[in-house]
Amino acid sequence: MGQRLSDYRLFLREFRQTFHSTGAILPSGRRLARRLASKVGSGDVGQKVLEVGSGTGAVTAEIIARLGPDDRLDLVELNERFAKVLGDRLRQDPSWLRVADRVRVLQMPVEELDEACRYDVVVSGLPLNNFSCQVVQKILSQFHRLATQGASLSFFEYVAIRKAKALCSKPQERRRLAGIESLLQRELDSWEVDRDCVLANVPPAWVHHLRLPGEVAGAEKHEPRDQTPSRSTSPGS
Ligand SMILES: C[S@@+](CC[C@H](N)C(=O)[O-])C[C@H]1O[C@@H](n2cnc3c(N)ncnc32)[C@H](O)[C@@H]1O
Repeated sequence: MGQRLSDYRLFLREFRQTFHSTGAILPSGRRLARRLASKVGSGDVGQKVLEVGSGTGAVTAEIIARLGPDDRLDLVELNERFAKVLGDRLRQDPSWLRVADRVRVLQMPVEELDEACRYDVVVSGLPLNNFSCQVVQKILSQFHRLATQGASLSFFEYVAIRKAKALCSKPQERRRLAGIESLLQRELDSWEVDRDCVLANVPPAWVHHLRLPGEVAGAEKHEPRDQTPSRSTSPGS
């Protein structure tokens, strides 16, 4: 309870001070966190798991609960205050301590993560709607580069958030949101295998699960499947 209260306080402060990168007023609720972590521990033994944008560790705790004895976990978090909370929990929280020798906290933007790292499961909490289209494209390409063949990528977006934002935005902002919409829709049309609607979250959220092709050595870049006609707009938009 004490941990949760201090997480809430820190989140609220970071939401005010670094809204652009924090993107949420509160940490994810437990149901959303469980859906985001649901692909961890469901594949082969010895999985490499990456969580991007771990914040105060709401989703991390669910990932850790599913981590097998040979699995490894990297947490990539931009914000140094959040990264410190994660490091402290690894040293102090008994359920985190159990796996601490297999978990790394990397305080950096995911765009700068060494491309030689490869992961079987990627879980993202990034607030993509706050970024420019170029940054979203860069992050999506980075996810593909970091993925092993058939890796899963799970990420969430709040239900109807882009449409709601666009309604009260100026034309330039509407264009940015439409650009993000089409980038994400292309990913979903190409690689989505499953999705969950989490109504019991504030606000309600869609969790998308994608299976990524992974990058073949020497190949120039991933190409999403060409689908015509394309699927209708994401329910998360
Ligand atoms: C919406 S919060 C999600 C936090 C946590 N996963 C949760 O669900 O409660 C987004 C997190 O992404 C982090 N973040 C934003 N941009 C990032 C980037 N480029 N690389 C890594 N982390 C980033 C923020 O600092 C913040 O902790």
